[in-house]
Amino acid sequence: MVTVNSIEELFEVTKLFNGSVGFVPTMGALHEGHLSLIQQARRENDFVVVSIFVNPTQFLEGEDLEAYPKKEKADAKICELAGVDILFIPTIEMMYERDELKITAPSIRGFILEGTKRPGHFDGMLQVVMKLLNLIAYNKPKSFRAYFGKKDAQQLVLITQMVKNYFINVEIIPCPIIRDSDGLALSSRNIYLSKEERVKALALSRSLKRASELVMQKEFDVSTIQKEMLKVLIEIEVEYVALVNHQFQALKYIELNNTIILVAGRVGRTRLIDNLWI
Ligand code: PAF
Repeated sequence: MVTVNSIEELFEVTKLFNGSVGFVPTMGALHEGHLSLIQQARRENDFVVVSIFVNPTQFLEGEDLEAYPKKEKADAKICELAGVDILFIPTIEMMYERDELKITAPSIRGFILEGTKRPGHFDGMLQVVMKLLNLIAYNKPKSFRAYFGKKDAQQLVLITQMVKNYFINVEIIPCPIIRDSDGLALSSRNIYLSKEERVKALALSRSLKRASELVMQKEFDVSTIQKEMLKVLIEIEVEYVALVNHQFQALKYIELNNTIILVAGRVGRTRLIDNLWI
């Protein structure tokens, strides 16, 4: 594995790619969820690139930009063992200049749910993903795939739309949510949870399990499902419980194979999200 810290060096090494390229963008503090993306990229491509970049433009004021966990050495080891070819770790100065051209998230899909709770977050996220996709594919690989987890469902849908709207030559691969054995969806932010908070946080995945039980019993009414989920979430400071289709349009009734059930809330000071695609 080669660790690359400059854009010039990245362009040099990606010149040597003579096959398909799989790319996994991350903000570091890698866990099993990231590892599963990397492993899938490894299985499906000749070359695998992982980036680690804590992107400042997607954090709002008062969010955890400064405190965001950094584990560069451990991350590099994980990547190396997983067979990554290139680990790209740029600096903020390399990625941004002062007066930048901006990308704005679409006005409906980008401004509901996470978009309301974190205004501006998606603009910054799309901006950096566009940059990273262009950087990794600078030398026009034979085929180019980028891997994103379904856990950040709205992010995944918006990136897919950006790629379509801007005619970017990349295939976006949605990857399954990875959970701990107790059901908690893996997230780099889980390390902020105390022991007690972690137990409380399990209500998120339990509420989704409850929703899936209801759907299996043929309860398709969205407001009934939301009410039942809220009962499970009693100890969580819930931000939203929402049911949308795969285009992120609100639903009144479950559409099988076209529904995402989403939940967001705070446990102590930690904001958590989770979802279920049915
Ligand atoms: O999901 C993330 O970790 C980030 O939003 C991403 C896609 C790496 C962009 O900074």
